[in-house]
Amino acid sequence: MAAKKLFLLPGDGIGPEAMAEVKKLIAVMNKAGAGFETDEGLVGGSAYDAHGQAISEADMEKALAADAVLFGAVGGPKWDAVPYEVRPEAGLLRLRKDLELFANLRPAICYPALAASSSLKQEVIEGLDILIVRELTGGVYFGEPKQIIDLGNGQKRGIDTQVYDTFEIERIAGVAFELARTRNNHVTSMEKRNVMKSGVLWNEVVTATHKAKYSDVKLDHMLADAGGMQLVRWPKQFDVIVCDNLFGDMLSDVAAMLTGSLGMLPSASLGAPDAKTGKRKALYEPVHGSAPDIAGKGIANPIAMIASFAMCLRYSFNMVVEADRLEKAISAVLDEGYRTGDIMSEGMKQVGTAEMGDAIMAK
Ligand code: NAI
Ligand code: MG
Repeated sequence: MAAKKLFLLPGDGIGPEAMAEVKKLIAVMNKAGAGFETDEGLVGGSAYDAHGQAISEADMEKALAADAVLFGAVGGPKWDAVPYEVRPEAGLLRLRKDLELFANLRPAICYPALAASSSLKQEVIEGLDILIVRELTGGVYFGEPKQIIDLGNGQKRGIDTQVYDTFEIERIAGVAFELARTRNNHVTSMEKRNVMKSGVLWNEVVTATHKAKYSDVKLDHMLADAGGMQLVRWPKQFDVIVCDNLFGDMLSDVAAMLTGSLGMLPSASLGAPDAKTGKRKALYEPVHGSAPDIAGKGIANPIAMIASFAMCLRYSFNMVVEADRLEKAISAVLDEGYRTGDIMSEGMKQVGTAEMGDAIMAK
């Protein structure tokens, strides 16, 4: 069997602290014969300090050659004044662009042990397991024209343009349907076809893609604003939600907060399957940033990073059994009362980053 090539980019702040826990897991899995081959590079502020770029060409090449990239976090006040083109975030944007990561997967899972601390009623949230699939490389964040025009009469005009072509909608819909097949076989597509032409096309293309290739999956359509409401009212009605870049940005943040702390939330970004091997380029990262306020103290919650690695096992290596076991271990450790500071509540056992990682590994 070919080696599984992982490229690690821990980044700045708590990125390296969280990544250290994943490295321990990889080492243990390799002892049991998992066959991961890892390499590590610099990204963000740490890369800028080393060579004046947010990511070097050599590291970009390694990212492109890897089966999967594991990304920590970038940024921090130390680099606030560096030039725009080489700011830490530029490293992540470059990776997303060059790897053509058009599908952003954000699960919202409610661990039973944390259901009681959600802002929603326990019955609404308990057992929640949904997946938002957001289009990441098109839509209003990238469409042209995109500018501010001086109208010359004391007024200015800000313009962003929502553009989607058939192939972009087809490929993101394909990802959503394929993922639904591995879950509860249900996709809800969200747009605003009532007021947006791109929404009309979105609806048409998702419907046609469904009919042509995925008619075994249940498909619903919902207007995105109503979808936002339903996400808060009764999120368990959903399995996979697919939407454009803008709606996905907002809806995935809403869904994420149904379930608690930033320190718990993983994500995956996938590219198109390779024509020869069928493998998708992929990058896995926690949703949180570099948390400069707690960096270097050994108290960051490593669960978002570890859960991102679980997504990597599932989606890049089809190691479904191992991914399930890792996710169950996280849940079990929470059941036993282990908590980092960000999810701490009365009567629980407060631990640091390494202790949380070790407890999950022991399970
Ligand atoms: P942040 O996510 O770094 O932190 C927000 C708050 O949540 C902080 O109080 C932090 O301590 C806490 N927090 C975040 N992750 C945690 C964890 N794993 N365990 C415990 N507590 C955690 O967002 P913020 O403060 O807005 O940004 C800080 C830096 O991170 C900025 O430079 C920002 O640009 C960058 N950033 C980078 C991202 C990335 O690398 N993908 C994403 C978001 C922000
Ligand atoms: Mg956002």
